[in-house]
Amino acid sequence: MSDLKRSLGEAVAAAFAAQGLPVELGRVTASDRPDLADFQCNGALPAAKVAGKPPREIAAAIVEALSGHPLLQSVEIAGLGFINLRVSARALSDRAREISADERTGAGEVAEARRVIVDYGGPNVAKPMHVGHLRASIIGESVKRIYRFRGDQVLGDAHFGDWGFQMGLLIVACCDEDPFVRTLMERLTGTALPSLSDQTQVMGALADHIDLPLLDRLYPEAAGRAKTDVDYRDRARRATAELQGGRLGYRLLWQHFVKVSRVALEREFHALGIDFDLWKGESDVDGLIDPMVHELDAKGLLANDQGARVIHLARPGETKKKKAADGTVYEAPSPDPLLVVSSEGSAMYGTTDLATVLDRSRTFAPHLILYCVDQRQADHFEQVFRASYLAGYAEPGSLEHIGFGTMNGPDGKPFKTREGGVLKLHDLIEMTRAKARERLQEAGLGGELEPAEFEDTAHKVAVAALKFADLSNYRGTSYIFDLDRFSSFEGKTGPYLLYQAVRIKSLLRRAESERLEPGRISIVEPAERELAMLLDAFDTALIEAYDKKAPNFIAEHAFKLAQSFSRFYAACPILQAGNEATAGSRLALAVTTLKQLELALDLLGIETPERM
Ligand code: ARG
Repeated sequence: MSDLKRSLGEAVAAAFAAQGLPVELGRVTASDRPDLADFQCNGALPAAKVAGKPPREIAAAIVEALSGHPLLQSVEIAGLGFINLRVSARALSDRAREISADERTGAGEVAEARRVIVDYGGPNVAKPMHVGHLRASIIGESVKRIYRFRGDQVLGDAHFGDWGFQMGLLIVACCDEDPFVRTLMERLTGTALPSLSDQTQVMGALADHIDLPLLDRLYPEAAGRAKTDVDYRDRARRATAELQGGRLGYRLLWQHFVKVSRVALEREFHALGIDFDLWKGESDVDGLIDPMVHELDAKGLLANDQGARVIHLARPGETKKKKAADGTVYEAPSPDPLLVVSSEGSAMYGTTDLATVLDRSRTFAPHLILYCVDQRQADHFEQVFRASYLAGYAEPGSLEHIGFGTMNGPDGKPFKTREGGVLKLHDLIEMTRAKARERLQEAGLGGELEPAEFEDTAHKVAVAALKFADLSNYRGTSYIFDLDRFSSFEGKTGPYLLYQAVRIKSLLRRAESERLEPGRISIVEPAERELAMLLDAFDTALIEAYDKKAPNFIAEHAFKLAQSFSRFYAACPILQAGNEATAGSRLALAVTTLKQLELALDLLGIETPERM
């Protein structure tokens, strides 16, 4: 099944070919002037250069060849030689019927499915999630769904940050905080595992002493202190190396951190409609690191750098300006080398990422790995990707950083709480939910719902507000967090889209109670035309979102579709259409619109309530 743009594109390309002109000039796009045309082709202008003839003459020949085409009502030359195409009501009705009969409402699939990993979310043990993680989660979830919907075999992985320096920091902080924990850690210094019952006992004792609120308090304190206190930082570095070296007490303490954090994080993610297929952590590749370092060494890729081991990545001539401590500017190789083993012997952030590429290639052999991570980590990924290609762990080009801007506060800087701290995801959700309740009440919505359903609706409105605000921008741009605007039922917002979807649902319930059945679609009125054209444009939006890894194309489509429905509903009565055929046709259009709107929203990770 092919959309109108593709079918017309083929017809126009054939007309170009028949004139001996390059077929790619026959490309068709949606018209900039929907009042004049549905589609346009601008190819006569470049073709004029190729053929050495005036553009209007070329356009005239194409128009001549296309006139009478069964899909077209008219084909005309405009301006300098643009070709304007208008689809016939008959062709549009046929296409609308086809979309309405299709489970996927006209959305196509990839010709060849690939294995894809989406690495997103990236929460860390005990470190509170900040707004960067919120964006990583929202965008990553949507990209995962878009890829899966197009037919690829996709795994989403949280890539839990559970193995770096912050683990050493937390270990030190817990030992300083609690004498019992310190004593226990001093006893369990070896690497041999005690009996299972001893382990269970230790874990039980740790659970009595260390809970999430404590970790939430300790981590920022420790991180702050390590910035200025060199001894403290060194202790944390040593603890990190010892943890990775297998020191038993630290391992058990670490297991406890991971468990406590993960339960809470999974709950929050789930509330946001974000569910990972794999919840792997940096620590999962621990066993691969030693052999990997050996192998990298054997391949001659490792160099010594003041006691650390690094991989040089810059190609000859690739440099950037750097400033030395004394202020002199010099040219240094760029990108920086990847730090594989620190001088304390620890695996670093880049080491675990490199080993994870290796692990993924062995276990899943992905064609593509997409890393949905804050744009500020672009340099890190450039390093990891180059190192992976050099080591032969991934095909060049198969690793891609899907970077994004930040969600900012009114000051234009990454969003913070009023006290200046990082905003916890949990608090953000709570705050948005409270706002959603207020908005519903203020709009006079949800009044007849039972308390539990009202809560569920408010939650869905909140999630839609957050996600749509994020996904309606191109991911590269930063945006300002403005809850009042995001949660409004008017304008380009998630709640507006839910409201339109719920309106259709209630219309369908009324139709059912009046025993009106959807019938054969026929497109007559201008508002019906506009709606049918949009239904047809879904696949174009989907492909664009897929190719550019940019959900905003779907968000834009969903918004236009909802608006177009609203105009259609105002102009074309359904239950009062006056005759059964018209009512049935319009009802079928409404059913199809709802189906496509819900599909599009689902690709954004947004669920619609039944009522408001
Ligand atoms: N945990 C990291 C952070 O908070 C993000 C992880 C992103 N994914 C990755 N493969 N490095 O910054």
